[in-house]
Amino acid sequence: MKTIRLKTRDRATVSTVVCRDRVLEEALPKALEPYRERGVLVFTDETVFRLYKEKLEKYLPWARVHAMPAGEENKGAESLFSLLEAMAKAGLHRGSVLVALGGGVVGDIGGLAAGLYMRGIACIQVPTTLLAQVDASVGGKTAIDFCGVKNLVGLFKQPETVFADPAFFATLPPREIRSGLGEIIKHAALCAPLFDKLSAHEKNLTNLNFLAQIVPENIAFKVHTVAQDTLEKGLRKCLNLGHTVAHAIELSGADLSHGECVLIGIVYEAEFAKRHCVCDENYLNTLQALCLAVLGSIPKVDIGRAAALSRLDKKNKDAENITLVVPVKKGEYKILELPLATYEEQLEEIQRILW
Ligand code: NAD
Ligand code: GLY
Repeated sequence: MKTIRLKTRDRATVSTVVCRDRVLEEALPKALEPYRERGVLVFTDETVFRLYKEKLEKYLPWARVHAMPAGEENKGAESLFSLLEAMAKAGLHRGSVLVALGGGVVGDIGGLAAGLYMRGIACIQVPTTLLAQVDASVGGKTAIDFCGVKNLVGLFKQPETVFADPAFFATLPPREIRSGLGEIIKHAALCAPLFDKLSAHEKNLTNLNFLAQIVPENIAFKVHTVAQDTLEKGLRKCLNLGHTVAHAIELSGADLSHGECVLIGIVYEAEFAKRHCVCDENYLNTLQALCLAVLGSIPKVDIGRAAALSRLDKKNKDAENITLVVPVKKGEYKILELPLATYEEQLEEIQRILW
């Protein structure tokens, strides 16, 4: 078991991440005991509910459950408001807790609902995907997609506790493991020791024991970064590495998961770095090879459509320039601003080279 505390600069603990086994069987029921009389709602998606219904009924027989349809396409206002309605119908009040049991979609919507309901109630995150364990459940970013823009409506809401249990990986389809590796390689691009570890295991990156071993390190890296800048005014921006291109591809309608888009985004953004930054090309080639080891190949996407979608990216300072967080050297990144026309033109050019 490993416990990682997210403390702000004044040393106050705002969130605790516990990496351990038997979360559904022991840790969660124990953590919820004080809330039993105050009100608990478990929020999940239909896929996770189907897989873990028996355990929920066995270990938390008294808890109410609300399940949304699974998938990023449901990460919108309808799911959010239907959850808020379920919270009201369950009679939750200021002393109650919402448990978000699922991947990043459930975590982001659950965290947002917990932040909005009665102007904020407690939230416990139980991330069930690799991606949600290493990234989405940690750090308090919550959001829904809105008006065709990823994560347009959201707030910062730190969960009281995050319980990360590798047992959930046993039911994950291989594609979701690949997807989680997207955010893990992003962390590796920012954290040299993690990069070395991944490079040394390039042949068995999807091995579940290896993943269980590196999840706490990923969480510790993210917690360390967020602790210095919880509201993303500076340093935390580095966690958006690869994400300008990733979000654009994700919204362009490609049949790709968030993590797969992040892997592609890192490959593209490394190419932007080669064109515009002082960088270590050999290192960038190795980083790209790591992404390709997970992806297999770079899928062809509607890059023109994706480019247009980057205009509304939250990272941009204005409508004419696109902001990218690109890898440059081992453990180093740079924030790059490109005129929209240059970005569009070079995305097409990079697609031609990569494909
Ligand atoms: P997801 O929540 O859609 O989960 C992927 C799929 O796996 C879903 O179909 C889900 O039902 C299924 N699933 C979940 N757990 C399972 C399990 N244990 N066994 C079998 N199937 C399971 O997607 P995700 O990849 O977890 O998260 C992606 C989302 O996270 C995106 O919306 C992204 O924007 C968000 N995100 C947020 C942050 C943040 O800091 N808040 C960071 C990264 C990503
Ligand atoms: N996933 C990026 C962040 O939490 O800042």
